[in-house]
Amino acid sequence: MMVPLQLHKAFLVSGFFLGVVFSNPNPAHTERQSLPAQAQIIDQRTFNVLQNVPPPSEFGGFLAWIPFGPPNATLESLVARPFHIYSKEFEDIIGPNPTLTLLNHTNGDPLFHEAPVWNPSIDEMFFCQNAGAPAAGTGLQKSAIIQKIKLSAITPAITSQRNASGSVQIEAVTGDDGAKVMNPNGGTNYKDKLLFLGQGKGENIPPAIYLMDPKPPYDTKIILNNFFGRQFNSLNDVSINPRNGDIYFTDPTYGFVQDFRPAPGFPKQVWRFSEATGAVTVVADGFSMPNGIQFSPSGSHVYITDSGMAQRGMDYSNPANMLVSPHLSL
Ligand SMILES: *[C@@H]1O[C@H](CO)[C@@H](O)[C@H](O)[C@H]1NC(C)=O
Ligand SMILES: *[C@@H]1O[C@H](CO)[C@@H](O)[C@H](O)[C@H]1NC(C)=O
Ligand SMILES: *[C@@H]1O[C@H](CO)[C@@H](O)[C@H](O)[C@H]1NC(C)=O
Repeated sequence: MMVPLQLHKAFLVSGFFLGVVFSNPNPAHTERQSLPAQAQIIDQRTFNVLQNVPPPSEFGGFLAWIPFGPPNATLESLVARPFHIYSKEFEDIIGPNPTLTLLNHTNGDPLFHEAPVWNPSIDEMFFCQNAGAPAAGTGLQKSAIIQKIKLSAITPAITSQRNASGSVQIEAVTGDDGAKVMNPNGGTNYKDKLLFLGQGKGENIPPAIYLMDPKPPYDTKIILNNFFGRQFNSLNDVSINPRNGDIYFTDPTYGFVQDFRPAPGFPKQVWRFSEATGAVTVVADGFSMPNGIQFSPSGSHVYITDSGMAQRGMDYSNPANMLVSPHLSL
């Protein structure tokens, strides 16, 4: 999804490449002895009551595309301590010394945008360029690309730096001819392969689910590209349900909103695909823009973001949230 539209994805990759996003060292930051050097605590009690609460046209007041954030935070304060602790449990997740290192940066073209997938067997991380950003020229003209980095290259000498831009090689996995995955957006590990969702291109290249060999020459095949002969809208993100091994994916209309796909042929839904039976089923609806999806490790819960706020421009009366539900029964 791009600037306004890539909102949610910016958060997704922020931990790795960008280091953007919320928090405020002052006054919300509470010192603790055990607080990691790159972390800050966001204590909402410190700003539950403000003397002046700005109108919607100014809310947040610092980064228009962040739908919420501590009052008076600045980009500098957010990046200075990029791990933002809203609840104690998060400290257990990040551990005593999390670090954030900038590995690369582009000014206009969102090369590092979506679908970060770490494949443990080869210890490499794959990620996709944005397909809808005018600055990238991708979408209708040419496909977004997939690139990767070898995690063995991320040594302590790298992670001890905040900015190691240029020190790690970034390798192309697919070219912009779109031959392998057309406008990739979501990805995950699946069996011994990588699974990517392609958003499609124009009217005649439908969105599809692709399986890719994680090793060169990255043999790729399509395993789903329609529902009873109907094209999906623009497949976005994907997760495998650990309870049944099925593929769950979101299908918002960002390809249409970003002018590289025709008017939608389906509501904006969450789907399930069982490779074993071939069955394709709608499992959740009622979204403005279903976007990221992730199961908890046991499959007891599924998390789905709705980024409806970001469509053609911003509509703050649309959702910008994450829904959690006990496992989908389908
Ligand atoms: C934010 O900044 C304004 C102007 O400097 C100040 O009046 C206000 O108290 C600050 N709010 C918080 C929550 O720090
Ligand atoms: C990181 O380093 C690169 C190369 O020296 C520089 O161009 C870039 O502006 C730096 N970025 C930040 C956020 O400091
Ligand atoms: C960042 O990555 C791009 C794409 O792989 C590459 O062309 C560029 O040289 C990299 N920049 C640095 C500073 O490594």
